[in-house]
Amino acid sequence: MTSIQLETPSTGKYTQPTGLFINNEWVKGVDGKSLETINPSTEQVICSVAEATEKDVDIAVAAARKAFDGEWRKVTPESRGKMLVKLGDLIDENLETLAAVEALDNGKSLGMAKGDVAAVAACLRYYGGWADKIEGKVIDTNPETFTYTRPEPIGVCAQIIPWNFPLLMWAWKIGPAVATGNTVVLKTAEQTPLSALVAADLIKKAGFPPGVINIISGFGKVAGAALSSHMDVDKIAFTGSTVVGRQIMKAAAGSNLKKVTLELGGKSPNIVFDDADIENAISWVNFGIFFNHGQCCCAGSRVYVQSGIYDKFVERFKVRALANKVGDPFTADTFQGPQVSQLQFDRIMGYIDEGKKAGATVVTGGERHGDKGYFIQPTIFSDVKEDMKIMQEEIFGPVCSIAKFETEEEIIKTGNSTIYGLAAAVHTSNLNTALRVANSLRAGTVWINSYNMLHHQIPFGGFKQSGIGRELGEAALANYTQNKSVSIRLGDALFG
Ligand code: NAI
Ligand code: MG
Repeated sequence: MTSIQLETPSTGKYTQPTGLFINNEWVKGVDGKSLETINPSTEQVICSVAEATEKDVDIAVAAARKAFDGEWRKVTPESRGKMLVKLGDLIDENLETLAAVEALDNGKSLGMAKGDVAAVAACLRYYGGWADKIEGKVIDTNPETFTYTRPEPIGVCAQIIPWNFPLLMWAWKIGPAVATGNTVVLKTAEQTPLSALVAADLIKKAGFPPGVINIISGFGKVAGAALSSHMDVDKIAFTGSTVVGRQIMKAAAGSNLKKVTLELGGKSPNIVFDDADIENAISWVNFGIFFNHGQCCCAGSRVYVQSGIYDKFVERFKVRALANKVGDPFTADTFQGPQVSQLQFDRIMGYIDEGKKAGATVVTGGERHGDKGYFIQPTIFSDVKEDMKIMQEEIFGPVCSIAKFETEEEIIKTGNSTIYGLAAAVHTSNLNTALRVANSLRAGTVWINSYNMLHHQIPFGGFKQSGIGRELGEAALANYTQNKSVSIRLGDALFG
């Protein structure tokens, strides 16, 4: 059996594929293993899906290789583009179901999940548009030589994604890889396999030949490790923890030196100056840390407020955070659902305890919410010292650390005092301050008077230990192409 009937509270019954999607077919794993996925709102098992082991990874990679060397090469860029656009349209047609499955498996609110699915469709269509605009150059070195460059696909790309945006990460990875003519084996996160499987059912309908896009469920230490050390995978793209990112680089180095791009953790500073519009700043700071329950690599988890408005800011931010509705993802006005798993819940509660023990002030929250499901109260710590763990380490939950600063010079230094460099934000009404600080922060994205304004047209990725390479926008195409230079001698033989 490679599918079952399931039900979501908002859409009723639907067919949930549970197999591995390899070569445009649903198959069971060779070893017949399965993994259970949990509804984090209820802590109940939703269902089991086929778990890929090393043998399945070999089969999927072989399928991707065969497609890359065969049929996929003959497909025109225009047709590749059409397939991606069609896939985007099919995702849109199934938006209600996909969003409900996402809310069920991941715990994000249905409204947010709908936003994610719409962004998935837009991202796929955007990369569909790029497919026939991948162009090289003519380089003139002398009159007797004609040289041109070709951006060529890298080959078989393994892609490993996390559980915080299960479908969105799927699209960010597949879009640029396929637009540029690669083939893909994508492994979803073991906590959230379901939405990607529902979406995989649309791949064949969109017209992709067998083996171009293969989707497998499985554990990191098994299927993930097999992909990163595989001798026939040409490139690996990963989003997740910095620890695992390091392991993937090591596995790539120790096997066939496959190309590596990484999108890792963050501890992003969100800086509020005295002259900021305080209500605006509070709503962006609130969204910056509590969106997606704090499970965002770019979460604005270090909040620095200038001394002139510090007390007022903390007091009003508390009121704003308390207004965030925590609860069932399927209830209309829910803003914050549960954390994704028991493990993440425990990690976050551990950090909250650390913060309390270290002497930071709990402004609000600090406890679990309710008695069932992995819900945590929106938590704000104030008077947090730089050397406290809650100011230095990625918590990946609804926990925000606030500290006071005095000068621009000081806050640039403090803002940059982290191993990470994914994102940052500046809130001020002074344009010069905004630009000076934005230009001085070592981060891949800086928002001014806003936060989390991600868009498929805008490159996203990390400085320092937050990653290698850029996703989204034109920049992502570079992750999936390699340059070939072809030189033609027009004149006589050079020697003799
Ligand atoms: P993780 O890095 O272990 O998991 C992410 C993905 O990597 C999953 O698909 C997993 O199966 C895979 N993976 C795990 N071990 C692997 C290995 N040895 N080889 C290849 N693939 C492997 O992250 P986890 O444990 O789910 O979360 C831990 C922390 O990671 C979070 O608290 C957060 O700080 C960070 N994280 C960051 C994300 C981001 O968006 N940058 C997303 C998810 C987690
Ligand atoms: Mg789940």
